[in-house]
Amino acid sequence: MKSIRVLCFGDLIGQAGCALFQKYAPRLKREYDVQAIIVNGENSVTNGRGITSKIVASLRHCGADMITGGNHSFQQKDVLPYLNEHDDLLRPLNFPSACPGKGIGFIKFEGFKIGVISLQGRVFMSQHLDCPFRALESALAYVRAQTPLVIVDFHAEASAEKMGLGHYFDGQVSAILGTHTHTQTADARVLPRGTAFITDLGMSGALNSMIGMKKEPILHNLLTQMPVKFEVDLTGPFVSSGVLLELDMETGLAISIEPFRIIDTEITFADKEQPEMQSSPQTRAKKSSKNVHDTRSWGE
Ligand SMILES: [Fe+2]
Ligand SMILES: [Fe+2]
Repeated sequence: MKSIRVLCFGDLIGQAGCALFQKYAPRLKREYDVQAIIVNGENSVTNGRGITSKIVASLRHCGADMITGGNHSFQQKDVLPYLNEHDDLLRPLNFPSACPGKGIGFIKFEGFKIGVISLQGRVFMSQHLDCPFRALESALAYVRAQTPLVIVDFHAEASAEKMGLGHYFDGQVSAILGTHTHTQTADARVLPRGTAFITDLGMSGALNSMIGMKKEPILHNLLTQMPVKFEVDLTGPFVSSGVLLELDMETGLAISIEPFRIIDTEITFADKEQPEMQSSPQTRAKKSSKNVHDTRSWGE
């Protein structure tokens, strides 16, 4: 039985998330003999809202083979043409077809392909998208005609919606991996018919933040209901989370899913990999960010 190993990172939060990916993706790839890396990039820009083409280039340089999206996929204007013109950055499949980009991509590696599908949930999400179940069902005929290896990033808020998708498509795809809540869940397993599943991969960002954001403004909002500005937290310690998949190349089914959660006390932000950063080349994690979120509702 031939198998492949795929490393999957959850949402990268701002510069901290990108720096953690830059540090750990190459190491884990070497250490675990990984053939492909998938990462969710919807919060990777400096203020945590979206992604730019420069960040895509940086993540690709660090080993990402496919970058998935979510509710912030279209937040940065710069990335809209990139979404149309390239195959390595996805946005959720079930957005209206008139939106830029596509929800399906293929990682090509030494004669085989891995189909990657970016999909978004509807429960407790502010965008009104097509049914993710039907969208995935329609996409599968197209993807499975090309490869039995299919990995789905299901970007959703509600655990039950994610579990529902996992059970409904159990045995039809290699893995269904939840993103968006930024907190890794302890339920990673291979489902009865062979699909690897986790409700949420977790994030790469500041460990003692609130889903990657500074806690003080969010606490103020919770206590007073007053509008606040959200800021990416760049203070250590940090956490980087995801899973390592092992997949059977003939059946496409999962052999194993192993979560990883790395705690790091300090990371270094390098300008050359973080083109948007305005500070000096070696800026330490302790330095606070001036980049601020607009006031907005919950959920990243
Ligand atoms: Fe997110
Ligand atoms: Fe999100």
